[in-house]
Amino acid sequence: MTQTLTLARPDDWHVHLRDGEGLAAVAAATARQFARAIVMPNLKPPVTTVAQAKAYRDRILAALPRAAGFTPLMTLYLTEATKPAEIELARRSGLVYGVKYYPAGATTHSEAGVRDLAACNETLRAMEDLGLPLQVHGEVTDPSVDVFDRERVFIERQLIPLILRFPRLKVVLEHITTASAVKFVLTADSTVAATVTPHHLLYNRNAMFQGGLRPHFYCLPILKREEHRQALVKAVTSGNPKFFLGTDSAPHARSAKETACGCAGIYSAHAAIELYAEAFEAAGALDRLEPFASHFGPDFYGLPRNSARITLRREPWEVPSALPFGEDSLVPLRAGEQIAWRLQDFD
Ligand code: DOR
Ligand code: ZN
Repeated sequence: MTQTLTLARPDDWHVHLRDGEGLAAVAAATARQFARAIVMPNLKPPVTTVAQAKAYRDRILAALPRAAGFTPLMTLYLTEATKPAEIELARRSGLVYGVKYYPAGATTHSEAGVRDLAACNETLRAMEDLGLPLQVHGEVTDPSVDVFDRERVFIERQLIPLILRFPRLKVVLEHITTASAVKFVLTADSTVAATVTPHHLLYNRNAMFQGGLRPHFYCLPILKREEHRQALVKAVTSGNPKFFLGTDSAPHARSAKETACGCAGIYSAHAAIELYAEAFEAAGALDRLEPFASHFGPDFYGLPRNSARITLRREPWEVPSALPFGEDSLVPLRAGEQIAWRLQDFD
């Protein structure tokens, strides 16, 4: 049985680092594991301009020790008011690596998102011309569509028409959860890729209802049936470069999760690479972890692969039942339970 696993230092192509006390509480966990991360812009107010992205980047770096060796890759939050000129600024900034499309109302802090994507045509055209990727939260918000079908219906109603209109636009379908999304990505051009989270690889929707209602397994897109989880595992272990690591680690205070109307989001930054290792090992595909975690993301984004390496050891450890989060606490994925792999500290 493999006891150690050494791979090029991975990157996280989708993470929520929050701001203020939340940022201070979680940034180091991401920086400990990953060399770079695509940082989501769904703050309140959202990060809609390059100036805001730069200021947020400075706050992230200030929250980390100097030696962290971590580079935040910033994103802008697409609104119907985002102008092509802002896209040009973003491209020239060297700090912004994509623009996030939240259908308005689809998820946490998405109220300022897009109601009618047609209003963004010129901006999307500028992104296509300048090679700036669009990161997509792929769920329809139509309340008549079942919550478990929202990703599939989004692909049919929104995404396929979008890529027909902008065939050269680089698109990352974020945190995919269904066999339909896998199929869509496989059949699309090489301009289309997807990120996959550790929780969607390890859990199906039963986890939300195991012996009672489990709010810490509630995220968006919501966990799906086992057959969909298996389709995701098959995709990420296939060696296809269109699928790469994006944790969607999304911390919320315990009090905001354990309440009558709890927030969506699963926090995994404390143990992300170890959790992915478990998922790949369960599929008998540990050798496929490195390309998924460390190669395919930078290749898609046109960035160099990291030269530093990390080592995981087979060394079961127990995840704390809660972590500090400002005045409140944070319940991490696997709280109070074991993880089989442990990331070794490195310089
Ligand atoms: O579960 C989620 N949490 N999904 C998202 O799309 C947003 C995220 C958050 O920001 O909390
Ligand atoms: Zn997210």
